[in-house]
Amino acid sequence: MSLEKRVMSKYIPAHIAIILDGNGRWAQKYNFIRTIGHKKGAENLKDMALICNEVGIKVLSVYAFSTENWNRSSSEVEYLMKLPREFEETYKGKFKDKGIRVIFSGRRDRFSKENRELILKTEKKTKDRKGLILNVCYDYGSHTEIIEAVKQISNKYKNNEIELEDINVELMDNHLYTKDLPPLDLLIRTSGELRISNYFLWQLAYSELYFTKKLWPEFNRKELFKALDNFQKRNRRYGGIKEKE
Ligand code: IPE
Ligand code: IPE
Ligand code: MG
Repeated sequence: MSLEKRVMSKYIPAHIAIILDGNGRWAQKYNFIRTIGHKKGAENLKDMALICNEVGIKVLSVYAFSTENWNRSSSEVEYLMKLPREFEETYKGKFKDKGIRVIFSGRRDRFSKENRELILKTEKKTKDRKGLILNVCYDYGSHTEIIEAVKQISNKYKNNEIELEDINVELMDNHLYTKDLPPLDLLIRTSGELRISNYFLWQLAYSELYFTKKLWPEFNRKELFKALDNFQKRNRRYGGIKEKE
């Protein structure tokens, strides 16, 4: 059976996340400037969203800009801040035909007014779509996300809206950016780095992890199916014991 047929005949994860890493190294490999790598990476993201939708994945979360990525050179940051403009076009074309919804997760207070408006516009224009949800994590960092959740919960406690006993996993889940999304099944990181870089620290508790040396611009349909095939062979125990064992 072909790889694609095998994967499609088994359980397709509801929510996958990808740390889109290696754009800079891809550019370097072909003697381009780093921003060309980011351009290629954004194009690849659009292709991969369409493929994930076709496969039947419900949510694709992508780490596109971290809270630490502001530390890069101003010209690189400036280029990376063009992503909302790039994704504005998702209200039409293939994304529209396939019903792909686009949302953004992360801080918004450090963006330009133009970017904040573009993000709101894209979210609004795509909000009733029923296909894949593309969750673009942009100025996202888990530390900030968790601290924000703790602050909101502390305020509710202070205002007597909740008791100390109400603070549990579910309550935390409901104060994170991912509150409306299904649990994270699989995290993929491209480019060979074996770290999480402040991504989804809370959500990763029982997700499966998959690392590949492929650089993000070269992560294609075949690589996605390889990752899904690998995921389908995992034995997810959640701390328990599978009956067969
Ligand atoms: C990922 O590629 C994109 C972002 C972090 C914005 P990088 O820019 O980190 O590429 P490398 O890791 O330098 O190759
Ligand atoms: C993680 O990649 C962030 C994104 C892909 C957006 P980085 O390239 O910023 O991570 P480090 O610096 O290698 O940990
Ligand atoms: Mg990197």
